[in-house]
Amino acid sequence: MVASGYGSPEVLVLQDIELPPPGPGQVLVDVRAAGANPIDYKLYSGQMGDDHANLPMPVGMEVSGVVAAVGDGAEGYTGPLTVGDEVIVTGVRGAYADQVLADGSDVGRKPSALSFEQAAGLVLTGGTAWHLLTETAVGTGDTVLVHGAGGGVGLMVVQLAAARGAKVIGTASPSRHDELRRYGVEPVAYGDGLVDRVRAIGPVDVALDLVGTDEALDTSVELVADRSRIATIAGFARGGDLGIKVLTEANGGQAIRDAARPELLALADAGALEVSVDKVFPFAEAADAHRYLQEGHARGKVVLVP
Ligand SMILES: NC(=O)c1ccc[n+]([C@@H]2O[C@H](COP(=O)([O-])OP(=O)(O)OC[C@H]3O[C@@H](n4cnc5c(N)ncnc54)[C@H](OP(=O)(O)O)[C@@H]3O)[C@@H](O)[C@H]2O)c1
Repeated sequence: MVASGYGSPEVLVLQDIELPPPGPGQVLVDVRAAGANPIDYKLYSGQMGDDHANLPMPVGMEVSGVVAAVGDGAEGYTGPLTVGDEVIVTGVRGAYADQVLADGSDVGRKPSALSFEQAAGLVLTGGTAWHLLTETAVGTGDTVLVHGAGGGVGLMVVQLAAARGAKVIGTASPSRHDELRRYGVEPVAYGDGLVDRVRAIGPVDVALDLVGTDEALDTSVELVADRSRIATIAGFARGGDLGIKVLTEANGGQAIRDAARPELLALADAGALEVSVDKVFPFAEAADAHRYLQEGHARGKVVLVP
């Protein structure tokens, strides 16, 4: 599946592309599921550049699947790889595909506790969550406010924060509150009066913004005095002006996220980290999957299957 131009999800088209056999250090993987993330549509939307030299643009960054062929010397980040291994691949360019060719260093063993659909949604959101919690030094005794706690990244943040011994207050629409309580989260509705509702629960040490709204950013700086303990992954322009941490793969972010991968797989294998799949779409309906993500109310991970 490639974006044939810049614009809305209608630009997505299926294309036949023959992959070469894996070269040294590479692995060929038969895809069983691909994680869909907001970045997938943002990249072809035009809002992040519209260089026509990048077209047609392969879409999607992470998959789960089965190793089909192993190039000389290829080794995964969880150990050696052989044909037939069930794996997760990250850092993919063109994940919505029957097969992907990857560097072995981007391949890890799929946790047996997860289905292929769940496994395809573990690492991008989990690594981002790990980055947020690492950069704001979340630990035992902290109270963490998470804006957008019920989305793909949000459900990872709340579980990983709890595993670090933190208490979590999470914003979500009221229909999600029972589900968030199941993860030990104290849920609050976003919207007018948010600051007061959070204050009524108690003081906050860390604020993590996963939505990028003025409300999330303003609430964060009002409730947390130490701006080194506020981070955003979505409010880029205002985040910089406010002097809070604006997190991307740049400036060492990729290294933190890569180092988190084996830890995330181990936690999932031990049943200590869940991936909540909201909807599964066939590849041919990728445009519908992206329209659904664009509505902004996914209840966990959106996944595509061949
Ligand atoms: N910088 C990075 O490295 C990085 C990495 C990953 C993701 N991101 C970005 O982070 C954002 C979240 O990613 P995601 O995968 O978690 O997306 P997602 O799964 O689509 O997030 C949807 C969630 O956002 C919540 N939400 C929508 N409007 C809200 C509001 N006004 N206040 C609070 N919550 C609201 C929804 O809650 P309700 O349904 O309850 O309304 C829903 O649970 C995206 O913009 C993505 O591009 C950035």
